[in-house]
Amino acid sequence: MKADDLVTFAYAKINLGLSVKGKRPDGYHELQTVMQTIELHDTVKISRVGNDEIECLCGGLSGPRNLAYQAARLFREGINSHQGIRLEIEKKIPIQAGLAGGSADAAATLRGLNQLYNQPYSQEEILQLANQLGSDIAFCLNGGTQWAEGRGEKLLPLTDVPEMFLIIVKPQQGINTGESYRKFDQLGKSHPLSFHAWDEALQSGSVEKIASLLSNDLEAGSQIILPLIERLKEGLKENGCYGALMSGSGSAVFGIAHSAEHAQEIAHSLQKRGYLSWATKTITP
Ligand code: C5P
Repeated sequence: MKADDLVTFAYAKINLGLSVKGKRPDGYHELQTVMQTIELHDTVKISRVGNDEIECLCGGLSGPRNLAYQAARLFREGINSHQGIRLEIEKKIPIQAGLAGGSADAAATLRGLNQLYNQPYSQEEILQLANQLGSDIAFCLNGGTQWAEGRGEKLLPLTDVPEMFLIIVKPQQGINTGESYRKFDQLGKSHPLSFHAWDEALQSGSVEKIASLLSNDLEAGSQIILPLIERLKEGLKENGCYGALMSGSGSAVFGIAHSAEHAQEIAHSLQKRGYLSWATKTITP
């Protein structure tokens, strides 16, 4: 490995709770959400190269429309650099899943580039770049268990969740985030989260208590777009999960299993039935 290279992991997130408080004049929605980092991750290799190009290699998601490419461009512009940057992203996190895969890659790119260039930006400045790029990137920079407000970028760390074993299942069809929010606007049903209840459940360390609080205001709308989401959720519960929920705007659904073996068993049986599915767990990076 050369000093101009760096390899970093980009972890996915799930939303344990998500309440949409209302639509803002800028078109975004005001949220309250409990976000959690999980072990499922992409791998991002960042290299400084001897030309002036930004190159982003990521299978079918290569090039300028990749958020990681945009992150590298913004990073470079801010320090008036024209040095070439190559990003090679090995994707495991499914896209259009509500797992912040693209945001995680962009956050890893900002963090990694700041390290490679000897920290030209402060933490606060990196956060500002993140917020110019998308709503979930600020969380991905920090990770762990966090309460988020605003459009998802105003963060408050919570007590870390206990280790929870998870099944993630992703229908073939993804969901466009903007479309899920539009469906929410049509339905207009909002269920506020209680900070107090979440704080208490997390401090208790009880997986049952945490599972009893799972809720997501975007679920009803995304289920209209893709009814399979509800069936997958019910299936996870029927298979003994403490609870199950769609993550973010979907279409991925997660279930909280009793053990690593329980999660693996369910993920395998879903895979045998042709679904994209993973056994994973919560982590604190
Ligand atoms: O910020 P990001 O690019 O991830 O958001 C994608 C789309 O999701 C936005 O264009 C917007 O339609 C919707 N969104 C929203 N309110 C949020 C986050 C996202 O309406 N808090």
